Amino acid sequence: MTTALEMRNITKQFPGVKALDDVTFTVKKGEIHALCGENGAGKSTLMKVLSGLYPTGSYDGEIVIHGDVKRFSTIKDAEQAGIAIIYQELALAKDLSIAENLFLGKEFARWGVINWDRAFKESEKWLKEVGLTDVSPETRTGTLGIGKQQQVEIAKALSKNANLLILDEPTAALTEQEVDILLSILREFKARGVTCIYISHKLKEVFSIADSVTVLRDGKTVGTYSIEDITEEKVISLMVGRELKQLFPRIEPQTGSIVMKVQNYSVMHPDLPGRKVIDDLSFEIRQGEIFGIAGLMGAGRTELVMSLFGGYSGAVSGTVEIEGKSVRIKSTQQAIKHGLALVSEDRKKYGLVLGMDVKNNITLSSLRHISSGGVIDHQKEIYQGNDYMKALRIKANSVETIVGTLSGGNQQKVVIGKWLMTNPKILILDEPTRGIDVGAKFEIYTLMNELIKQGMAIIMVSSELPELMGMSHRIMVISEGRKTAEFMAEEASQEVIMTAATGGRTG
Ligand SMILES: Nc1ncnc2c1ncn2[C@@H]1O[C@H](COP(=O)(O)OP(=O)(O)OP(=O)(O)O)[C@@H](O)[C@H]1O
Ligand SMILES: [Mg+2]
Repeated sequence: MTTALEMRNITKQFPGVKALDDVTFTVKKGEIHALCGENGAGKSTLMKVLSGLYPTGSYDGEIVIHGDVKRFSTIKDAEQAGIAIIYQELALAKDLSIAENLFLGKEFARWGVINWDRAFKESEKWLKEVGLTDVSPETRTGTLGIGKQQQVEIAKALSKNANLLILDEPTAALTEQEVDILLSILREFKARGVTCIYISHKLKEVFSIADSVTVLRDGKTVGTYSIEDITEEKVISLMVGRELKQLFPRIEPQTGSIVMKVQNYSVMHPDLPGRKVIDDLSFEIRQGEIFGIAGLMGAGRTELVMSLFGGYSGAVSGTVEIEGKSVRIKSTQQAIKHGLALVSEDRKKYGLVLGMDVKNNITLSSLRHISSGGVIDHQKEIYQGNDYMKALRIKANSVETIVGTLSGGNQQKVVIGKWLMTNPKILILDEPTRGIDVGAKFEIYTLMNELIKQGMAIIMVSSELPELMGMSHRIMVISEGRKTAEFMAEEASQEVIMTAATGGRTG
């Protein structure tokens, strides 16, 4: 096989952080090459160098494509060399149609007039290539689910004649079914000779699709391996630099009294009259336990926790008691007052202010803890920020680092820190480890254990069944808004949970 790409001795410095330190990365033509590493290891940065987002001159080292040294000053330059990148955060213009997104900047314009007929025809062709046959090119991309937006992104990349496709963490927000579709699209491209660089924290995927894997750690190359020559365990230990003996450090529940009792809880759809997103749910949660919620995408898990937290607009019936007192939570402020905290699945939308620094974000919902007489004590803010940064092992230069410059997983830790600081009685974690590396996951689990030891109750929503079964003490399964089963952790298996999640009532 010939070499498609060589990145030689790449060093990239940000103020105070050496994100890449003499990285060498070689990709063979036509292979799927996985790039693995902990949060903050430098994966996205390396790909931004490759895609021209960080222009030549802003880093040291050389990019060699099919034997020629390339110096990209813009993303366009890299595109002309056949490179297309799909960023960790999707970059489609949500208000525009699929066709507009596909041909943004290269409309079939003559004398300033776009030939829409041609744009639609071309779009249909590319959509078909990625298996999106059931949507029209006129659809606004913002109305598509994440999986389909992803497919549009790929169609867009292909329409630019890419022969090197980079996917940065493409499956973090996809359902299992969507993941399968994506992987089969990639296999098809590979068969046609497209080279692909695939970044993922999900090693199962990596091992099912990749031909080779390169591991980065702390901005340095650890090594490149053929997939047949390495195991998942080995990749993990190369990533974290130590052996991880146990993935889920569950401890016995520290069960105390009932902190939350939910009875006959129903939530109406905010826009569709008569449709219930949650239908007559009852459950209770005790101090010191981790209560897992399982279900398929669309089962109502996020709607349930958002509604309990006062952050969902659909009308509610039924009762909620917190520590024996009946409450009606109508806003997130009230929820916080009643001792609830929610780490949401979509950290960008609900959790973080990207332009602010670490300490401001962490203290955002707890300003009263660091103020006296209505005035913020900035010294205290720095101390507290530092405490959480240490406890959660957030990888940032200082508490004054702007959150938007942190790697994805470290941003997630900042959201968790923010909610911990509110000192909740009940901590709700919605997909807490999405996009987080194995080492940091372990840290988050360990932290959950610390919290239940202090008497906190944790509600965890997760689509990762091994995680849900590995950490929860009890698991409730919901399907189409209804409770279909509840298990003690020991009784649960992947099979019985899946049966209940698809609507079968067991347990
Ligand atoms: N624009 C920036 N300004 C300052 N520092 C940055 C910037 N972008 C990245 N960094 C830092 O460079 C390091 C590498 O970040 P990068 O985003 O490449 O990590 P990653 O491997 O993609 O992690 P993740 O798995 O969390 O996405 C991190 O320490 C990060 O905080
Ligand atoms: Mg990244």
